[in-house]
Amino acid sequence: MSRIRVDRDLCQGHARCAALVPELFDLDGDGYSVVLPGREAIPEGEEETLDRALLAVENCPEQAILLEPDA
Ligand code: F3S
Repeated sequence: MSRIRVDRDLCQGHARCAALVPELFDLDGDGYSVVLPGREAIPEGEEETLDRALLAVENCPEQAILLEPDA
């Protein structure tokens, strides 16, 4: 399983994550990224969701989106 996380210290509100991958990311009231509730964990085998998360990782200019293994 993988886990998506936004580093709140790094996020500068570029909003590419929410624009490109709205099924996983939203912006909070201050314009910073949040992972949609319940979408933090990507179960094993959900390659399509993993690809979408990676798209957000690659397109964040601040490297604020982290995709971590989760046992
Ligand atoms: Fe923040 Fe990067 Fe998204 S700066 S709003 S996590 S594109």
